[in-house]
Order: sequence, then C-alpha cells, then structure tokens
Amino acid sequence: MFGSKDLRRFRSRSVFFGAILGLASIWSFYNLLQVTLQTNPLDQILLERYPTGKWITGNSFRENVFDAKRECPVSRSDFRSASGVFAIIAGCENSGTTVTSEFIMSAPYLLGAFECGILLSPTPSDFVNVHPFYEWITDGVEKNQWALSTIQRERLLNATCHAEMYSMLHIFSPVYRHFPDSLIVDKTPGYIYELDAVMDRSPGVPVVVSVKSDEDQLRSWTKRYKKPDQTSLLERLQKAKQGLQRALDKYPGRIHVVNTTELYKDPNKAMDQVYDFLGLQWNPEFLSLKHFNIKGKTVGFPQVQPFDAEWQ
Ligand SMILES: *[C@@H]1O[C@H](CO)[C@@H](O)[C@H](O)[C@H]1NC(C)=O
Ligand SMILES: *[C@@H]1O[C@H](CO)[C@@H](O)[C@H](O)[C@H]1NC(C)=O
Repeated sequence: MFGSKDLRRFRSRSVFFGAILGLASIWSFYNLLQVTLQTNPLDQILLERYPTGKWITGNSFRENVFDAKRECPVSRSDFRSASGVFAIIAGCENSGTTVTSEFIMSAPYLLGAFECGILLSPTPSDFVNVHPFYEWITDGVEKNQWALSTIQRERLLNATCHAEMYSMLHIFSPVYRHFPDSLIVDKTPGYIYELDAVMDRSPGVPVVVSVKSDEDQLRSWTKRYKKPDQTSLLERLQKAKQGLQRALDKYPGRIHVVNTTELYKDPNKAMDQVYDFLGLQWNPEFLSLKHFNIKGKTVGFPQVQPFDAEWQ
C-alpha cells in the first residue's frame, strides 16, 4: 500500500528532481542563448585562437595543426605530412581531371573543392595575384568551392609557407568542417603548365595527370569555347606538354599519367592503376560516384551524374 510516509518521501523526491530538472533547463537555455547570440561561433573561435590553442572543427576537437616555425622547414622535405595534401591532380582543362578527381575523392578521408591554385603562387602573399583562384577560394560550396571568408583569405596570405596555407584552408573551409579527418586533394588543371614549379613547392606529394590525344583535346576545347583560335589552342596544348615533360624529367617517380581515352574504355583498369600509385585500394563501386556524392551532399556540393551517364 502507498502510505502517507511514502507519499511524503515521494513528494520531497519530486521537489528535489524537479529542482534539478529546472536548473538543467535554465542552463541549457543559457547555453542556447549564448550560441544564438554569437554571429559565427566557429569563426570567432578560430580567429581568436589561431595560431595557438585548440581548434574545434565540426564536432571534433583538433590540436592546433600548424606550428610554422617547426613545420615550415619540415615541409621543405615532407610537404605531404606538414600540409595535409594527399595528392595533386593536374591536366589540360577538359582532359578528364574532374572525373579523375571525383574517383580519387570517392576514397574515404579524401576531399577537396572544385579547384584550388595555391601552388601557382611563388609565395603565400603572392596568392593575391593568382587569378581566378584568389577570387574562387571565397566562392560558396554550392559552386563546389572552398567558401572562405575574405578575412580567412587574408590570413592565408599571411602564412609563412604553402603548407601553412593548406593547413589554414583545412581549418577554415566548411568542406572539412564536416570531414575533419579528411586529407586534402588539390585538383587544379592549370598546374600542368608549370608542373615542375608546382612540384618544387610540394615535395613528396604524388601527382596524377590526365591526358587526351591531341585530337581529342582539341575537339574538347573547340566544343567548350565558341569559335576558339586554333593557333592559341595548339600553343596551349604545347605548353601543357612541355610543363608535363619538365616535371617528368625532374620527378619521374612522383607522377602518374592517366590516359582519359583508356579511362573511358576501361575505367576499372585505369583507376586500379591510379589507386595503386596512390597506395590505395580501388573499389569498382566508386564508378557510381555515390561515395563522392554522399560527401558532396553533406558539404553542400552540387551532385554529379554517375560516370556511365556522364559520357554515354
Ligand atoms: C596580416 O598581417 C599583417 C601584418 O602583420 C596584419 O596587419 C594583418 O592584420 C594580418 N591580417 C590578418 C587577416 O591576419
Ligand atoms: C591514349 O590511349 C589511346 C588508346 O590506347 C591512344 O591511342 C592514345 O595515343 C593515348 N594518348 C596519349 C596522350 O597517350
């Protein structure tokens, strides 16, 4: 039976737990209010704490990734671990760099926006003169770009070395806010024209280059640009070939060339070789681009068609 003693005990317990509950809800309301009042809490934290202290990216805590004094010298021999750049993808525009990069970014822990261009800049502060990449880096994720704020872009210019620029990009860009454990894939077709200089600036990072036959490349360009000047197209093709050759002479082991004609004929074979070169395991399921699109959807990137549909 439920006696009066029990009732009293029950009442005092209710008061006790009610008070705790009340305090807890006031506390959570206070927290919620604080979060809502700050304009952009993450940016606030990043701006205040860089370059020392702890970072919050997405839901995970992250140690300050870059100590310029220590890591800029390291990046001169091991750029990959200092910068977080896992691979670079280059090649003439419309030579297949996009599809190659989407296949590469289908692998877990690899991600990058549409194009980057940081390595075209001889020094971090020169990035202000690298067009259109300086402009593009603040474009939004809906355009598949990095979505930095103009202040964040200015901070990149203040970096001590290129590796620090990438480290800032990783911290600032919403692309990695959702995937804080992802390494950076820098796909920038235009790197091809000065690939040797780009590779000088990124020691140890493997480079995947896509190529088409001259006819296919010229046909793609002609289709893309209205009434293109054939002489200038031929010149551009020549420059790309020279850039690749200089890089191959200097860094033969760091470059893997993908022939896009062969990629289209037998994508599994071509990508098996690319993945092998990068030390990864190709999965034929990646051809659906589902794995890439899942990440893109989280970030806010436009969805891309499955590979088959893209070129049939
Ligand atoms: C960049 O460095 C300059 C010179 O030290 C400084 O005045 C400026 O505030 C810095 N910009 C940012 C965004 O940190
Ligand atoms: C790519 O492969 C095709 C088919 O095997 C070949 O005809 C072409 O010469 C290759 N192109 C380049 C640039 O290697």
